[in-house]
Parts: sequence; C-alpha cells; structure tokens
Amino acid sequence: MTKKWWMESVGYQIYPKSFYDTNDDGIGDLNGVYEKLDYLASLGVNLIWICPFYDSPMDDNGYDVRNFFDVAKEFGTMEDVRTLIDKAHELGIKVILDYVLNHTSDEHPWFVESRSSKENPYRDYYIWDDGKMKDGIKVEPTNWGSFFGGSCWKYDKPTDSYFMKIFSNKMPDLNWKNEKVQDEMIFIAKNWLDYGIDGFRIDAVSHLDRAPFEDIENTDEQYPLDWHKFSNLPKVHDYLHKLNDEIFSKYDCLAIGEVGGQASIESGLKYASFDANELSMVFNFDHNWCNNIEDVTHPNKLVTNVVQLKSVFAKWQTAFKDKGWLPLNWLNHDQPRLMSQYGNHKYPLESGKMLATTLHLMRGTPFIYQGEEIGMTNYPFEDVSQFNDISSISAYYRHLEKDPDDPVKALKKASLRSRDNPRTPMQWTKGYLAGFSREIPWMMINYNYKKINVENNLKNKNSLWYHYQELIRLRRKSVYHELITYGDFELINPQDENLFCYKRTLKDESLLVINSFSTHKVAYDLSKYEVLETVLSNYKKQSIKDGILHLKPFESIVYKIKEKL
Ligand code: NOJ
Repeated sequence: MTKKWWMESVGYQIYPKSFYDTNDDGIGDLNGVYEKLDYLASLGVNLIWICPFYDSPMDDNGYDVRNFFDVAKEFGTMEDVRTLIDKAHELGIKVILDYVLNHTSDEHPWFVESRSSKENPYRDYYIWDDGKMKDGIKVEPTNWGSFFGGSCWKYDKPTDSYFMKIFSNKMPDLNWKNEKVQDEMIFIAKNWLDYGIDGFRIDAVSHLDRAPFEDIENTDEQYPLDWHKFSNLPKVHDYLHKLNDEIFSKYDCLAIGEVGGQASIESGLKYASFDANELSMVFNFDHNWCNNIEDVTHPNKLVTNVVQLKSVFAKWQTAFKDKGWLPLNWLNHDQPRLMSQYGNHKYPLESGKMLATTLHLMRGTPFIYQGEEIGMTNYPFEDVSQFNDISSISAYYRHLEKDPDDPVKALKKASLRSRDNPRTPMQWTKGYLAGFSREIPWMMINYNYKKINVENNLKNKNSLWYHYQELIRLRRKSVYHELITYGDFELINPQDENLFCYKRTLKDESLLVINSFSTHKVAYDLSKYEVLETVLSNYKKQSIKDGILHLKPFESIVYKIKEKL
C-alpha cells in the first residue's frame, strides 16, 4: 500500500449556506468559512470538504450548477475562494470541493442551448427522448421514478421531447456517452486543481450510466424508483478510468466518490480498491439507517439495531483491508443529525462521545459534519411550510398520499429523514441568532441553541467538542498515530446487541475499543486481556470487578491491551 496524505487526515464537511454569515444577509458565506478556519484548526482537522458554492439558481442549494467557474453571489466572489484556500493551506488544512458531474442546472448555458432545438450542437450534452404513445397520449419514455419524487423525465415544450433528470426538474442529467461532455468535465476539474484545491468529493458519481429505456414492470406505482436503472452500471467505470488517467493520477489529489445507497461492497471495491485506478475512496450509506426509522413516527422511539450497525461497518472494514481505503463518516448534509439518529436524548454527552469514539477509531479517514462536534440535533418541524429542501417537501406529500387522513404522521415521517435537519444554521453562541448571523437566517435555527453551541462547548473541558479534539489528536499526533491510522480492524462479539467492540492491531500493539449503546448497565469480560493503559473514556471512573468491566449507559472506553497467554 502506498501511503497517501489523505490517509493521515481528519476531514470536516462544511455546508456553506449554514456555516457562518459575515455579510448579514442570513446566508452563510465563504468569508464565514475563512473566519472559522482557526476554529477548525484548533479542533485539529486538516482537511475540509466545502459543499457547492458555484453560481447556481439554488433549486438544490447549489448542487444545480449554472457556472462551474464562478461563485454564487450569496456566497461571495472568486477572490474570497482564493483567500480562503490560501489561509487554509497556511494552517495546514487541505481543501476539497464538490465536483458535480451527473447534472447541471437547467439554467446552465449548455442546457439553454440544448433545449433550444434538436439540431443544436449542445443537444447531445443531455439525455433527450421523444417519449412514447400510450392509449393515444404521449408519455414519458419510461415509468422510472426520480430520487426527489415523480418521474425521472421532464417534458420540454420547445422541442416536444423529454429530458432525463434523476434529481429535481431543474437538474437535467448530462449525457456522459458524449465525449464532449467528458472533456468539458475534465477541463472543469483540471481548472480547479490548477487553481490549488486538493481534490474532490464527487457528487452522484455512480449514476453516470443508464440501463436500456424499458419500463419497470409489475408495479402499482406510477413512477417507481429503481436505483438499478441508473446506479453502478458498467460504463461508469469507463468514465472513471478516463477521469483517473487524465486528472486524478496526474495530481496528488483526493477523489472521494459518493456512491449512494445500494452500492455493494463488490462495487465499492471496483471504484476504490488500490488497483482500481478510479477513485481514492467511496462514501457509502449502509450505516445510516440501522434503526426502526421506517416504522416509527416519534423521534424518541428510534431504536438502534446495534448488530446490524456493527455488521455493515465491519463488512466494509474487512473487505477493504489491504485492498483499499475508506472514509469514516456518520452523516452528511443529506442525513438526519447523528444525535437524533443514534444518540440518546437522556444521555446526550455520554452517547455523543461514545458515537464519536466508535467511528473515529476505525481504519479510514474520519469526516465530521458541521455541528456534529457539539452534538447538534434534528429540528422539531411543526409544519410542511418549514421545509426548505425539495426532497423533504415531496416526501411529505408522498406520505400524505398514502395516508390522506393523517397529515401529522406524514410530517413526522418526512421530518425524521429530512435533509433540512443537518442544514439548520451552525450554533456558535447562545446569543442573538446563535451567533450565526445578525439577520434572520434562510433556515430556522434549532430552539436548543442556547444550550447546544460552540461557545458552551469551548468553556467546558468535559464537553463533546473536547472529546472530538482528543480523538483527532490521538489519531494525528499521539503515539497511537500509526496504529489508529494503519492498524488492522477486528470486530469482537458481532452478535452482542448492546456493545460495539473492536480491536485495532499494528505489529505487537493493540487497542481495544468498547462502546455501549445501552441505557442499562452492561458487562464485558476483560479477563483475557491485560490492560496496559486507559487511552480514552467518557466517564471519570470505570468499574472493573474480577476481570469484568461493568459499563454504565453509553459508556465508551479505549484500552491499550495485551492478550494474556
Ligand atoms: C448528492 C448530494 O449530496 C445531494 O445533496 C444532492 O441533492 C444530490 N447529490 C444531487 O446533486
């Protein structure tokens, strides 16, 4: 294995719109990121991923790009990008940006041209089809559904045809079969790398190829969503080889692909094993929904399926051992907040620290999503009008359609998974508007900001923030650096329903990481180990009697151990 700089990094994801507002328009901006770089450096991270700030009509908060070479006016200017990158680099922080290559905004000049006539030279930049006749009426070419609800085709009057869009109506999909599209996108990536960024998080990368346009059979739904129609199909790998040959291999850059749900480990390895020559690593989401979220309407009734959670993490860890590298992240800007998903509201500090330890000590590159380090939670939505995200709004109406008499349930269901949860403004202080802005923000601030904020965390040495800082120090700067970064991973007691325990080993050194997901006391037999040192814990004292460790609710302990002979 060739060591790479990102294997020794700890990343932090920034959703700029909600991070910090410096120009009092209620919207976070690039100068806000710049101003908080010292904060990030003090936390210890040395890599930031900034979500899209490119020029965009913001139908999907910037993932609908209108101009890849300019900055949305609400976020700042190209000069702001320059100063931000330069200061980050001075602080030893690498910067990666989103590379959005599956689609553009419908306001992108390519699409404006493309939709204007069938003969336009840009026509084949996007995926067009004339549709088909059904019962004498012209309908979409296929009945495929899109991620944000409804058909994955949109009718376009000027040429009386349909374009494909697997996300929103304003995000037409690029036609990757067209080599000109490939070359344009390569040009864009090179441009940003030459500008000085250190790599990309590659958006929706698994969707660049499509199955033959045939209807999904045997379905009651008008537009069923079947990922297989546009996920992980063979040509994606051809495109990625080309991107790797022409860009990624030529720069010392990080290329992390978002491969979405339903990416098998086998396909993960195809994208990101050391010899794949495609991507440096892939984000998967298998660990995001290991609870009863599908059948529950009240947030406090969520129960973590610990066995399932361990199994998905261990499967990826084991498959990538010696073969590839993985990012380690609990959530991102598309998932509910960690504390509301797997944390416990009665034990926020203990469960928050336990979750952080569980993730950060595995093998891979950890990514913290903004606000995770202070334990931010989901927003208590009370009405559909409070949703900003297009997919949350459409999810609400889909739930309502199934259960028209129960709007309360529809709201709860949509809220639990809503992508608006992680997008509420960062809670910096207990002061006016949580210190995020001096103007009413674009998105509601969580009511709990007076308690959960950076200011409070920094004042208290026992806070969640300092626990994150210590985890980062252990990984990057302590005597355990090599072991935590490169050691082998071994899951212990996979069937235990309360504990998530694993061992990390490098040469003759081992760490035992013990995490309780239980609200009750749980025992763990330590008798076969000699405990050499307590490296980290989330309670002041541990209770060990006759070789049995008695863990308190959500207790988490890391021991340096030696196996007894
Ligand atoms: C994945 C991004 O994470 C999400 O926020 C976005 O809506 C879609 N890709 C489309 O770009």
